[in-house]
Amino acid sequence: MTQNPRKILVTSALPYANGPIHLGHLVEYIQTDIWVRFQKQRGHQCTYVCADDAHGTPIMLKADQLGISPEELIAQVSTEHQRDFAGFMVGFDNYYSTHSPENRDFAALIYQRLNDAGHIARRTITQAYDPEKQMFLPDRFVKGECPKCGAADQYGDSCEACGATYSPVELKNAYSAISGAKPVEKDSEHFFFKLGDFEQFLRTWVDKHVQEQMIHKLNEWFESGLQQWDISRDAPYWGFEIPDAPGKYFYVWLDAPIGYMASFKNWCEKNNVDFDDYWGASSDAELYHFIGKDIAYFHTLFWPAMLEGAGFRKPNGVFCHGFLTVNGQKMSKSRGTFIMAESYLKHLRPEYLRYYFAAKLGSGIDDIDLSLDDFRMRVNADLVNKVVNIASRCAGFIAKKFDGQLGASLVQPELYNDAVKMGETIAQAYEQREYARAMREIMHIADKANQYIDAAEPWVLAKQPERAQEVQDSCTLGINLFRVILSYLAPILPQVADEAATFLNIDGFAWDDIQTPLLNHRINKFKPLMQRVEPDAIDKMVEDSKQSIPAPAPATPAAPAAQSPLAAEPVADTIEFPDFAKVDLRIARIARAEHVEGADKLLRLTLDLGGETRNVFAGIKSAYAPEQLEGKLTVMVANLAPRKMKFGVSEGMVLAAGPGGQDLWILEPHEGAQPGMRIK
Ligand code: 2FM
Ligand code: ZN
Repeated sequence: MTQNPRKILVTSALPYANGPIHLGHLVEYIQTDIWVRFQKQRGHQCTYVCADDAHGTPIMLKADQLGISPEELIAQVSTEHQRDFAGFMVGFDNYYSTHSPENRDFAALIYQRLNDAGHIARRTITQAYDPEKQMFLPDRFVKGECPKCGAADQYGDSCEACGATYSPVELKNAYSAISGAKPVEKDSEHFFFKLGDFEQFLRTWVDKHVQEQMIHKLNEWFESGLQQWDISRDAPYWGFEIPDAPGKYFYVWLDAPIGYMASFKNWCEKNNVDFDDYWGASSDAELYHFIGKDIAYFHTLFWPAMLEGAGFRKPNGVFCHGFLTVNGQKMSKSRGTFIMAESYLKHLRPEYLRYYFAAKLGSGIDDIDLSLDDFRMRVNADLVNKVVNIASRCAGFIAKKFDGQLGASLVQPELYNDAVKMGETIAQAYEQREYARAMREIMHIADKANQYIDAAEPWVLAKQPERAQEVQDSCTLGINLFRVILSYLAPILPQVADEAATFLNIDGFAWDDIQTPLLNHRINKFKPLMQRVEPDAIDKMVEDSKQSIPAPAPATPAAPAAQSPLAAEPVADTIEFPDFAKVDLRIARIARAEHVEGADKLLRLTLDLGGETRNVFAGIKSAYAPEQLEGKLTVMVANLAPRKMKFGVSEGMVLAAGPGGQDLWILEPHEGAQPGMRIK
């Protein structure tokens, strides 16, 4: 293969520059890094680029909230991201930013080419506008009551209570999540990318370049019709201004994937490589994007269409992966399983996680689970007890009895040859991103090596001076098998591999080196390569994660990715009993119930808690007239933090049941309950 090196460019999705890297992100970066290290080990010219995704409203608002400029925020976050990636041994060849001159130029160039070819439409649309902040509000920044079920505090695109999707103008009692002001409707001209122009091209393209499991989803998208994509945003916006369109900016998702090109271009300049050789329409270089399945729409439809329309090459593959769960559930802050990269690294070695993810990853889009007990047991069983143990069982005898010198031949060459022959199967598994399969094969070889040493018993032979040769022979074979295994694991365990290379006194682990065993070769003193994972370290990491969650920026939605039809649905976390026990449920007497001017759903309730009164806004107007409520007893959450609502402060919550509309009942406790009484 080295005779025929491939030119390969690889990317991972660009993380947003407004939050820290967590273990959910790391599935992708570790998956990609393993693939890249494998390709390099095989002798290919493989380049891995990434960047921070530095534009968009959430970043603008977060900087605003912190009282710093967006430039300062993205510089700060970039340093943190690069520190965390380095901590997990993710070896980018270039890490850049979408807020770069190269990206500005490419975004303008691609837009201009699309525009010249007639693929950009302009039309005026009406959107929610915050009159106080003087800005248009993205859907996720408009909140209000769900038009379907009336649930309060819902986002402008979908309801977390009933799952309905709608447009922000349909929300009842809408307010801006930024200023609290009532949004008004305002017109402005927007620019649209005519995705439909590329339907025929895309239908053929996706068949060959996207995983089987995704094709089904893509067909659904084709069936529902390819809509024009709004690529412009009005000032104030943090991004690149559209050429010849003052006050109009490229939407963050337009310049985000172009950031792959920009980062690579930046690397080309530093390394004297011809950019067009990789990105020209007829390039023979390979291009692969690793992404999460939630952003497939952008990468399998918009992105290839933009490249096609602008005369650039398209990716050879878009590799989607699933999400991460921890202990079988969505990562949760209260359970301490929303684990930041930084918190993990304080307690555990990165290679443990790299191995565990590898042992679970296939080429599909299924979610993977990090079960913390299984993680500990698997790493200890496979890496410490199986792999490292091979070297530690043999190294001492070679050092003490043979002055570090390996023997002149292999006693059971077939054992060695079989292990080397497995190399092609393992390479294929890596190439196809079937890492779990590769790990199984490698551990099978490690089992064989251990069985051989168990049977040879060098520790018994070592007590019989006349059998010294057998000691050297068996340990020479053991150490050579260890080298083969480490060569196969090198993409997963870069530091262990480096230290093993020092121990073996070799330059490294080029894929084909194992064709020649180490014979008549002097090795160095063995130092323990890996300690066991202790339960205590995991407990501390979980404890830390409960404490160290950075306060979320108000109203920072998880993503423009929420635009993606595949975006994960919000899943309510289960709560533990102590969380439930915190809820202070009390009987309250509805002393007064009044209409609220301008509110369709809300009533203002004055609740008597037996000496204490509370003002609570309740969305039960569709079911009760105020006069039906006065004098009744109900159940309220008494220790809910007061919330500032549009009509005043609400100091608690009344519990009601039912599907909504007229079918909504306040809980009426049985007679005899006294206001103020606690419910347990
Ligand atoms: O979903 C996200 O986190 C985006 N920042 C990914 C962008 S990938 C590429 F298009 F830039
Ligand atoms: Zn709803």
